[in-house]
Amino acid sequence: MNPQDMNRRRFIATSAAAAWAANASATAQPAKGPNDRLGVGIIGCGGRSAAHIGALQELAERDKSVEIVALCDVYRPRLQKTIEKLGHPLDTYMDHRELLANPKVDMVCIATPDHHHGYQALDALKAGKHVYCEKPMTHWRQFALAKEVAKAAAASPCAFQLGAQRMSDSAFHQMRKLVQDGLIGQPIHAECGIFRTGDWGERGMPIEDPNVQPGPDLLWDAFLGDAPKRPFEASRFFRWRMYEDYAGGPVTDLYPHVLTQMIHMLGVKMPSKVVASGGIYRYPEREVPDTFNMLIDYPEKISVALLGSQGNSYQATGNRDDIRVPVIRGWDGALTIEKEEIVFIPDDEAAKTGKTPQRFPIEHGYNMLLLMRNWVDCARNGTKALDSGSELAYYTQTALLMGMAAFRGNRTAFFDPEKEEISVG
Ligand SMILES: NC(=O)c1ccc[n+]([C@@H]2O[C@H](COP(=O)([O-])OP(=O)(O)OC[C@H]3O[C@@H](n4cnc5c(N)ncnc54)[C@H](O)[C@@H]3O)[C@@H](O)[C@H]2O)c1
Repeated sequence: MNPQDMNRRRFIATSAAAAWAANASATAQPAKGPNDRLGVGIIGCGGRSAAHIGALQELAERDKSVEIVALCDVYRPRLQKTIEKLGHPLDTYMDHRELLANPKVDMVCIATPDHHHGYQALDALKAGKHVYCEKPMTHWRQFALAKEVAKAAAASPCAFQLGAQRMSDSAFHQMRKLVQDGLIGQPIHAECGIFRTGDWGERGMPIEDPNVQPGPDLLWDAFLGDAPKRPFEASRFFRWRMYEDYAGGPVTDLYPHVLTQMIHMLGVKMPSKVVASGGIYRYPEREVPDTFNMLIDYPEKISVALLGSQGNSYQATGNRDDIRVPVIRGWDGALTIEKEEIVFIPDDEAAKTGKTPQRFPIEHGYNMLLLMRNWVDCARNGTKALDSGSELAYYTQTALLMGMAAFRGNRTAFFDPEKEEISVG
């Protein structure tokens, strides 16, 4: 993106954030005084935390709404690096539960490997902290935990935002409204996906210190958490995305970024059934697939095709951002995106009855700061008008975990809405 586009988006994002703030404060009881800063604890100080910290610093500069007060990581050099970057001393921990016990911490950003998200989010909600939790909501083997987090977040007065930052893109909210208004008629089929080149493991996650050993500066057991106990390996620690104990490949690493929007646009909840295919087709050093496709059927009689690979980056449709643009087909026409516009293409039958092509300008693109802003505003005002809240995260995570269950079992995964359980048959 060129700097002009970025500035334009930033400006639009700021205006949108202001509009959000105005809406939220009109309808909510403030949970904290308007001049009080919310103290933020960062759990996991690796690559992704830099984006969280950058957004929080921008918010702190703009309106002093937040202040980073504490850090937690199981690897001391990362804590030290983050303190150096922030440029001032703050409370540091190697156990997230100790950070949660700090009364200065009102809210936490979780950016640890996938298998810790659910537990840390649950602990934070129980401790009365607002949670910004990176995607995926949980590791692929933790469906029961995802359910528990969703229920805890629904019951808690705290704000839970999942880090699917593309939910800050107005296109998806505008498209949801167009679908709800009946422009395309009854939705029947949709497609979305992500194509990228890169393994995000061996090449994407360097081993920072090949001689490092577990000890007081690297808590290996704490890194393992509920994953199978194994002797220490630097590769597992630094390049955890390659291993199925801690990651799942595109289905959990990337697809929350596209399926969350699709579920939001279609207004569906839990799937009825899911099939999946793919494998390790390009990067044999990984344990997790690099290519993964899913077909998801919803009880509302809508099929969603979710396609992707980390072996090629051509998007095939549209050219906006690095994701394959979504297409939603209804009985009367289709909705998709071309650059900065939402496009409606009437179906042949509907065109005969007078439906014409239409274009709608997209109000603003996605911006990490907007999602963070939305979370902070909700925490501050005691509202739950979250763009990537726990319910949506739970519907998305369930479909993705059904995909993983179907893939691993080489079968179809079914969802039982009464028991709220996944089965494979
Ligand atoms: N939203 C996005 O676009 C996006 C982008 C990148 C990463 N992510 C997500 O962020 C998460 C972190 O990814 P990353 O790239 O920063 O990984 P990373 O390995 O760079 O950082 C993870 C950090 O967590 C620490 N850690 C491990 N176990 C811990 C524990 N029990 N308690 C506290 N700290 C612990 C590690 O020492 C490390 O410093 C992943 O779940 C990933 O899916 C999201």
